[in-house]
Amino acid sequence: MTQTRPWWESAVVYQIYPRSFKDSSGNGVGDLQGIIEKLDYLNDGTPNSLGIDAIWLSPFYESPMKDFGYDISDYRNVDPLFGDLATFDKLVAEAHKRNIKIIVDYVPNHTSDEHKWFTESKSSKDNPKRDWYIWRDAQADGSPPNNWGSIFGGSAWEWDDITQQYYFHQFVPGQPDLNWRNPEVREAMYDVLRFWMDHGVDGFRMDVVYMVWKHPEMLDQPLIPGAVGRGPNDLYGLQQQIYSQNYDGIHDIMKELRSTLDEYGDKVMIGEIWLPLLERMRYYGDGQNDEFHMPFNFDLIDDGTFQNPTSWQAKRFRTLIDQHDAAVPEYGWPNYVLGNHDVPRLASRIGGVHRARTAAMMLLTLRGTPTIYMGEEIGMVNGIIPPEKVQDPQGLVLGHEFTRDVCRTPMPWSDDKYAGFSTTEPWLPVNADYQTANVATEQNDAHSMLSLYKALINLRKQNATLLFGSYQSLDSANNTYCYLRQTDSESMLIVLNFNDEPTSINLPYSGDIILSTTLQRTDAIDQTVELDSNEGLIIKITG
Ligand code: NOJ
Repeated sequence: MTQTRPWWESAVVYQIYPRSFKDSSGNGVGDLQGIIEKLDYLNDGTPNSLGIDAIWLSPFYESPMKDFGYDISDYRNVDPLFGDLATFDKLVAEAHKRNIKIIVDYVPNHTSDEHKWFTESKSSKDNPKRDWYIWRDAQADGSPPNNWGSIFGGSAWEWDDITQQYYFHQFVPGQPDLNWRNPEVREAMYDVLRFWMDHGVDGFRMDVVYMVWKHPEMLDQPLIPGAVGRGPNDLYGLQQQIYSQNYDGIHDIMKELRSTLDEYGDKVMIGEIWLPLLERMRYYGDGQNDEFHMPFNFDLIDDGTFQNPTSWQAKRFRTLIDQHDAAVPEYGWPNYVLGNHDVPRLASRIGGVHRARTAAMMLLTLRGTPTIYMGEEIGMVNGIIPPEKVQDPQGLVLGHEFTRDVCRTPMPWSDDKYAGFSTTEPWLPVNADYQTANVATEQNDAHSMLSLYKALINLRKQNATLLFGSYQSLDSANNTYCYLRQTDSESMLIVLNFNDEPTSINLPYSGDIILSTTLQRTDAIDQTVELDSNEGLIIKITG
């Protein structure tokens, strides 16, 4: 059965933010060689390693780092901070030796303002690359061409004194938006995909890809009634993004991206698409599998605040997951994400590391590909970033509480100085709890979060029911979330206690406990399930 399915359906994906994973050069910033050195930790072919199947690498391309690599000045090169192309090729080869696929980030919406396309475009109004970006005249009073706001705060338009026009940027001014309506831009960007596929990558995670196609006249965005925004600099948060995101015609572009990947076969296309469920489902393709294999599913992250422990409720998760599972078209495949480099850490968001164990069991037992953000497997919490240490442009413009630095602190490998991440002071402070929440310490603790992740991944890998069985949630009492995963030959019952205290429920099943989030229990159950606080169980049904 598994052979006929595409590899990503049975894969566990692990996201690496290269700046923060492992510094091999001693400059306080992670790099590609550092990742190579940790590949055995990720998968050495035995259950002693984490056992992941694919790495998604956030950008490592040449960049002035105004948005830490999401501002690319050369799509076809590695930034010297991270290494060089030869090291990248070595990373691909070493990963493949360990059966780890490499998915790279692809940033189609914008380049850096230091990309040579932009410096040419900016040089004069009649430069052949002028139309590769979005340039407009000022309004009569000199103000920007429309009311659109930048996601990082302020106007989305930047004035250029030399050519006396504004250019458009949805993120920082150092990230001018490309003009995807220009066919030359599209061809150049499809060639970027081919370049990396020629270097052996197995797929792409496509950055804010639903934003590349804008209204041709860029009409003013309507305002959201009653919106208060994210502080005094926020325009974006006050507006409905109807002309800049998910705009009519976007799906034709998505199909072109997909057919470029299909030239090579077997490459996965994952989309960063923050849209409501039904709109997002359209990115699987319209009636057929011709767009994304996996439009990232952020439903379990985005409760509108990104940090709301009271949303840790069984019913809420059941509803979101039932809806997603039912909405994915039959030619598509579900996926689940609980954290990434843009949102507060899972454990901090949901109210504690104790709850994150339950979340881990949920993520790794659902029908759909899980993506784990580095550090979740050791229960990392938000780092503490004093205001003067904020690096992230979003935190700098919108305010300290919006900084994404909190989830980008260095991966703690040991209780050594600088958490074994670097031999020098890292670019962001290591977490305060690194002496206990680190890989080496957790490797030696049979009941640690890391041991739980290993057990869950290992079980998932070997169990066709957990990988491909149907999903059916059950009615259950007392703030628990229960579901069946079933094939013709096997039924697994997953029971998750969302309470911070012990809970008992009745279910019409008996069976053997295969795994508990406590890693301390393998008894049998018969109709009644006694759960410890925040405990999750995987039960093989026997009757
Ligand atoms: C989404 C990325 O995940 C985020 O980190 C980045 O700042 C923006 N896109 C702009 O590229």
